[in-house]
Amino acid sequence: MKALVLNALHQGLDFQEMPAPHAGKSEGLVRLRAAALNHRDLFITQGLYAGIKFPTILGSDGAGEYRGKAVVIDPSLDWGGDPRAQGRGFRVLGLPDDGTFAEQIAIPRSNIHPKPGHLSWEQAAALPLAGVTAWRVVFTRCQIKAGERVLITGIGGGVALMALQLAAAAGAEVFVTSGSDEKLQKAVALGAKGGVNYRNADWDKTLKKEAGGFDVIIDSAAGNGFALLPALCQPGGRIGVYGGTLGKIDGLSMQPVFWKQISILGSTMGTRLDFKKMLAFVAKYEIVPVVDSVFPLSEGSAALQKMDQGEQFGKIVLSI
Ligand SMILES: NC(=O)c1ccc[n+]([C@@H]2O[C@H](COP(=O)([O-])OP(=O)(O)OC[C@H]3O[C@@H](n4cnc5c(N)ncnc54)[C@H](OP(=O)(O)O)[C@@H]3O)[C@@H](O)[C@H]2O)c1
Repeated sequence: MKALVLNALHQGLDFQEMPAPHAGKSEGLVRLRAAALNHRDLFITQGLYAGIKFPTILGSDGAGEYRGKAVVIDPSLDWGGDPRAQGRGFRVLGLPDDGTFAEQIAIPRSNIHPKPGHLSWEQAAALPLAGVTAWRVVFTRCQIKAGERVLITGIGGGVALMALQLAAAAGAEVFVTSGSDEKLQKAVALGAKGGVNYRNADWDKTLKKEAGGFDVIIDSAAGNGFALLPALCQPGGRIGVYGGTLGKIDGLSMQPVFWKQISILGSTMGTRLDFKKMLAFVAKYEIVPVVDSVFPLSEGSAALQKMDQGEQFGKIVLSI
């Protein structure tokens, strides 16, 4: 079969022939129709991930056919028995296990779920990892409710956009930040109440004036911008964190955190129950993941370059 393979760092992925997988006892063989990129795939090609090995077929997100039915793949492998946190055997599909950037994949049958009927192959492939990560941080961890005021930072990202769609469907009032005014406008068209550009000076003060304080803030950027977030919270606020794209945080003061009784809640991927609840919610509200662009599988390296430039709004998808 054809696949996109990581053979070395800093040189993209090779589109090449690989042995077709065989399904083990508890596995199903899925004929993939579409896959989607996550920032994780880019970090891996740049060597910014633990446990990198060659060759590996990358890719955590996939939709395809299994026994004549349309399915999506849950990318969380071996979560373990504690719903509060994943166990030591937990893995994200697509390193170390071969992933979805291929014509076929052998995957535990418990990770195969029916595709929501209102989604195309490309839209369905854009859903799993961003959907389950957003579900867990928005509902399981931050317990966002109707009427709450929510800030989602860096709205151009796949998870951030899904978090906007989920929180807005649940009746929250969502504000956003982005490094691009065009992305802010697109987010408003998707249901955000408003937003500010984090490249502008004093963006936090502008946002506070525009929106007031937030019950919940969802962030994956970290870096120095994070230090401004506690001051934007209402007393009793929650900050959900699922990423650290910009690295360590300088200048974070603990005073607003303890004085305002703020909770900082880490979140990663999700349990099988999180995944199933996310699929049911997406089907009920007919939520459609935002697809930025679609590349053929053979052009996976160009798709990764597009992600590296950070110009995307939503998911970059590979058609197979
Ligand atoms: N823990 C987990 O389970 C999990 C799951 C998925 C992703 N992640 C992590 O979450 C992060 C985002 O992943 P993704 O796949 O959604 O990324 P992506 O689609 O590549 O998006 C990159 C994001 O970075 C944002 N950004 C860049 N500079 C920023 C700044 N100064 N302030 C705020 N936001 C900034 C961008 O916002 P604009 O384009 O709007 O400026 C955009 O949202 C990555 O670090 C990834 O590893 C973690």
